[in-house]
Amino acid sequence: MLDYFSIKFMNGKLCFLDQTKLPDVEEFICTDSPERIALAIERLEIRGAPLIAIAALYGVALAVKASEKNFYPAIERFKSTRPTAVNLFNELRDLERFFEEDIKNQNYEAVLNFAFDYHKKDERYCENISKIGADYIENLFNRKLNIITHCNTGALATGGIGTAFGVIYELHRRNLVNMVFACETRPFLQGLRLTSFELKKNKINHVIIVDSLASFIMKKEKIDLVIVGADRIAKNGDTANKVGTYSLAINARYHNILFFVAAPSTTFDNEIQEGENIKIEERSPDELLSFGSSKVLFNQINSINYSFDVTPSDLISGIITEKKVYTPPFDFSYD
Ligand code: MRU
Repeated sequence: MLDYFSIKFMNGKLCFLDQTKLPDVEEFICTDSPERIALAIERLEIRGAPLIAIAALYGVALAVKASEKNFYPAIERFKSTRPTAVNLFNELRDLERFFEEDIKNQNYEAVLNFAFDYHKKDERYCENISKIGADYIENLFNRKLNIITHCNTGALATGGIGTAFGVIYELHRRNLVNMVFACETRPFLQGLRLTSFELKKNKINHVIIVDSLASFIMKKEKIDLVIVGADRIAKNGDTANKVGTYSLAINARYHNILFFVAAPSTTFDNEIQEGENIKIEERSPDELLSFGSSKVLFNQINSINYSFDVTPSDLISGIITEKKVYTPPFDFSYD
């Protein structure tokens, strides 16, 4: 049982843990303002592909509470928050269909229940991913493992225990984790600040490494596997995830290490064939050119701050979903 949570809807408000302050400060913000929720997503106070979608659905419900006329403007506002994680777009599309399907669905309670249902569904999906992934990996190795992970994919990023983190958590429960090497995840430090917070809370052995150390650690520490989450998976299995994932996959291939992606079916984009078509979020250079609250003060430093990259499917050993583990060549069309 976890003793922390990322978001909870209570007393007509969405309460969320401000992830920009972790791990030093555990501060909850409670709001009934849809705009405040949209800002929280943009600022990464709320983040992680499934959690962004959950928060946006609650946000639309609160907008409809004020007036049903707010439905479409709220949908558009949330669509504009972050472009890469597809869960947001998939769920807002499903909510639009639900709203249009029946006049009885066009009120606060109905939209709020839609949000609750998706939140619960994501929790169940995380549980399934964790078990299915851990079964598969236990079958392959059946011994204690050294695992590399990237970014944060736990309870802070989802409605449940997490995706890649969920698999690690379940392996740990089965006493199959020797060490987790968590990449710090420059520039926003989701690995250093958030994954270490969750690994520590759950008493899982871990160390933090700088992203660029991963290849040397693969050589030095007998790494068994890499497991990461996803923000958008194309029909051919190409996967967008936090920047640095692609390098990890190349390094894993060079060192003959298995590379897994864990994600719910809500992270699949059935409209795009390959990763080329994924829109990659570019964030403010300030995130890159600062360390905590101190800025690098040189004027006119040029930077590119892509928040995600795309790993080609041929570098992926398996994609773990709530249904099964897909292995290459990937074909998701019959599920
Ligand atoms: O920018 P972030 O922190 O929202 O990026 C998060 C990731 O890249 C995660 O790996 C992904 O969303 C999966 S979370 C289960």
